[in-house]
Amino acid sequence: MTPILTIFLLSFASLSHSLPLSANSRWIMDDQSGERVKLACASWAGHLEPMLPEGLDRRPLSQIATHVSTMGFNCVRLTWATYMFTRYANMTVVQSFGDLRLTEAISGLVSNNPNLLSLNLVDAWKAVVEEIGRHGIMMVLDNHVSKPMWCCADHDGNGFFGGVYFDPDEWLQGLAIVANIFKDTPMVVGMSLRNELRGPLQNVDEWYKYVEKGAKTINTANPNLLVIISGLSYDLDFRFLKDTPLELKMMKKKKVVYEAHRYSFNEGQSKVWVAGPLNKVCHEITIEMEEKAGFLVRGGERTMQPLCL
Ligand SMILES: *[C@@H]1O[C@H](CO)[C@@H](O)[C@H](O)[C@H]1NC(C)=O
Repeated sequence: MTPILTIFLLSFASLSHSLPLSANSRWIMDDQSGERVKLACASWAGHLEPMLPEGLDRRPLSQIATHVSTMGFNCVRLTWATYMFTRYANMTVVQSFGDLRLTEAISGLVSNNPNLLSLNLVDAWKAVVEEIGRHGIMMVLDNHVSKPMWCCADHDGNGFFGGVYFDPDEWLQGLAIVANIFKDTPMVVGMSLRNELRGPLQNVDEWYKYVEKGAKTINTANPNLLVIISGLSYDLDFRFLKDTPLELKMMKKKKVVYEAHRYSFNEGQSKVWVAGPLNKVCHEITIEMEEKAGFLVRGGERTMQPLCL
């Protein structure tokens, strides 16, 4: 790497705004200046069986962080599994990979990130978070599953409170642990309560009950964090909020952010995009998204302009 390029890359390692962030109507804002901050987060999976963010056996951590930044992202959404913090915190990286017989990945870690191998999983995570932060990249820590595994299916036991792996108390314990570990890391700007609530157990009453508890747990540990909240049915559906808004009185500052997910294959619609006239399909799905989640961005002066390409 030439010195000039080094200077160029280092210039990414600073934020154009200050932290913490808050929500204001449909916008995320810099608390201090009141300027809008637009999060462009790359999702980086850390919730799978090895419980280490993926890819560290392939490339050095700082190289990946640099790459994320040069691609134009200002944020990483780092996903985590509850059990990693509540049950396996003291397991070392090499132990975790060894138990899964990932011998090739262990050699990869030896060459690319040798310093992580002997750390326990939580300390390895801290090292990853610190390095991402050093590159001027903000982070959202996303509770993705309880049992470390691929996500998501209706019957995977991770989908809703009371699922085989989804004990609400252990979930709250995990949120508190993570919020506390990173409470002095300003580049961690938010935590999401849980990815894509779903499945046969899902219901509106328990959504309100546990969303309030989860938000309170995070806010108590670190009142600076944005608290990012998923809807029902894989994060497609917030219609229930039209009748009963979520009231989180304990929060002094506005921190609630709703996340909605939409894939081309949602709701068995994977084929409609190629089968129907595109304008019509796009129109119908836009209306559906509006009805289920888009209405949430109408609190401000401006309205959302859905874009169909
Ligand atoms: C990790 O080890 C410490 C010290 O022995 C212990 O207090 C803690 O409960 C352990 N954590 C987990 C998740 O096993």
